[in-house]
Amino acid sequence: MITRVSGLLYGADYNPEQWPEPVWERDAKLMGEAGVTMVTLGVFSWARLQPAEQEWDFGWLDRLLDLFHAHGIAVDLATATASPPAWFVRRYPQTLPVTADGVRLEFGSRQHYCPSSPIYRAAATRLARAVAERYREHPALALWHIHNEYGDHVTECFCAESARDFRRWLRDRYSDDIGQLNFAWGTEFWAQRYSHFEEIEPPRRAPGPVNPGQLLDWRRFSSDALLACFLAERAVLKEVTPQVPVTTNFMSMMKDLDYWTWAAHEDVVSDDAYPDPADASAHVAAAMNYDLMRSLGGGRPWLLLEQAPSAVSWRAVNVPKPPELRRLWSVQTVARGADGVMHFQWRASRAGAEKFHSALLPHGGTGTRGWRETVRLGAELKLLAEVAGSRSQSAVAIVLDWNSWWALEAEDHPSARVRLKEQILSWYAELYARNVAVDFVPPDAEPAGYRLVLAPNLYSVSRENAGRLAEYVRGGGQLVCGFFSGIVDELDHVHQGIDGLDGGYPGPLTELLGVAVDEWWPIPDGEAVAVEIGGRSWPATRWSEWVETTGAEVVGRYRRGVLAGRPAVTRNAFGAGGAWYVSCDLGGAEGSGEQAGGGPLGDSGGGSSGTSSSGISTSMVGSTGIGAVLSAALAAAGVGPVLPGLPAGVEVTCRRSDSHSYYFLLNHNDREVSLAAAPADAVDLLTGGRPSHLAAHGVAVLKQGR
Ligand code: GLA
Repeated sequence: MITRVSGLLYGADYNPEQWPEPVWERDAKLMGEAGVTMVTLGVFSWARLQPAEQEWDFGWLDRLLDLFHAHGIAVDLATATASPPAWFVRRYPQTLPVTADGVRLEFGSRQHYCPSSPIYRAAATRLARAVAERYREHPALALWHIHNEYGDHVTECFCAESARDFRRWLRDRYSDDIGQLNFAWGTEFWAQRYSHFEEIEPPRRAPGPVNPGQLLDWRRFSSDALLACFLAERAVLKEVTPQVPVTTNFMSMMKDLDYWTWAAHEDVVSDDAYPDPADASAHVAAAMNYDLMRSLGGGRPWLLLEQAPSAVSWRAVNVPKPPELRRLWSVQTVARGADGVMHFQWRASRAGAEKFHSALLPHGGTGTRGWRETVRLGAELKLLAEVAGSRSQSAVAIVLDWNSWWALEAEDHPSARVRLKEQILSWYAELYARNVAVDFVPPDAEPAGYRLVLAPNLYSVSRENAGRLAEYVRGGGQLVCGFFSGIVDELDHVHQGIDGLDGGYPGPLTELLGVAVDEWWPIPDGEAVAVEIGGRSWPATRWSEWVETTGAEVVGRYRRGVLAGRPAVTRNAFGAGGAWYVSCDLGGAEGSGEQAGGGPLGDSGGGSSGTSSSGISTSMVGSTGIGAVLSAALAAAGVGPVLPGLPAGVEVTCRRSDSHSYYFLLNHNDREVSLAAAPADAVDLLTGGRPSHLAAHGVAVLKQGR
């Protein structure tokens, strides 16, 4: 159980300030009809709770908590600190955030605060304390919801206070030694040397590229500045109510915040997920985000704290969820480890910025399709109650390192087209298509428990972490490492040899991978280069490299252009395991390689065909080149799907309790499919039978004794 509420949580944000009190009573009754077990209260209530600096108004919230308790509905109570009131902003205008261009953002939206402002932090923790002390004993309180979506709208602030905080952070990081900072930032280049910490400012708009070390530290600092806000509130809550779990809602795989450092301080990892119904493959990226959330909590069940019941209102075109999609996508979160499905929001607003955002109770009320789906989902989540607390197992891990992500996507690199999330998604999609379970791990994780480790990109890697990967492979693990890896250390300095001079790529991964990269060969926009793997041609886009093998076996070769005949994909037998290197972006689908430099293969030499000793054969390849490589790596690692033989487009996961296995079968096709390949001795928790087919966008949760 992630809170004291048993079963799967079901509910929504409720913003009752918008309606007269009689509506609250009605809403509580309707929540009962819909099977709601928890509401999130108070997310944007600061102005109501504290109408003036020395004035508090808790009466209305008292009545709400009492009301929900009377209806048996638990409360996820927010600390309400995400949007300071107008009086606060006018009294303390210096707390408003400032952009890199020096523009101070105005009141009138939300999330308008400088994370480093001591005035804001003091006011926020004061409010959090007032709320905590008021409701510490309230029986409805089940979960603390700290703030809301840290990093939403404002991820960084460039004001004078932030500058002071940045300098404090830097003094701490560099032991008050400006020489260390100068070394780390490489300030001897372009005459950027500092004599004192006081000379340092945030990376505001400058004439040209800003020092990359400064930018990297700024990103680390900005994540930490918001984390400090979170920790300050958390400390208050833990002091007043140590028994109540805390969470803050994450924003899926978000670049700005290093969620590994954040999640370590959460009792419950929670996420806000808004896949776009107009995107036919949105469920793949969604699955990736959910696997990340589960992994951030070390495999513990997590909580979907917000999703849209149907359309959102903030895209250019806001397509609703067709019938069955809300159900399918909701059960998908449970399939990937969520123990609750919450929404934004309960009752559709009649005014304000999000009045066209869907809600569990639409403007049209209880006569609508939306409402019927709300009631149905509540009833079905009850049928799934027993899966709460169960966990899943993965034999494959993907390394995700926020520091490397920030450094990789800095300016003035060989190509501005390389984006970590896209790279990870292209690899993840191939595992997803094969129904292979996967976890995410931080760069310093001990990988020994996994049979296959994937590092789509490790641009920045420490010698220590590279050494850990080498030990893992030496001990029998399989590793697949993507291009432009092993390039820089934690300071974003290019890895060099012991004497600090001659080095070469891929730095500390060289021996493990058995390759030397002579030069990077980014591929111009709109072009592709054919790569032959196992007798088939795959398009490489965005990136290629001049690779020399120093021990590795060639698994795939470039077929055209300057690199024709040279290694593109390699595998190095290392100790008892194997280390693959993919020197190009093979995430493009077959057929997209017929452009410049591409072309069908099989017409001339330049690579092996049939089955190589690395295990890649024509029959194993997936739908992209990286799929072909991963198929072979999975085979080498002896890793298969959760269930074999299911029709394409059917997602399957497995959660296990001490006594049972729960197979989640999710049909993302818009046609019926057969479930012949699913376990015969299992019963669908939703229907009580053993379905032979799944309807279009249908779901089944098959329970099997262990
Ligand atoms: C975010 C916020 C909510 C709401 C929703 C829907 O997740 O946390 O307050 O704005 O988006 O847009």
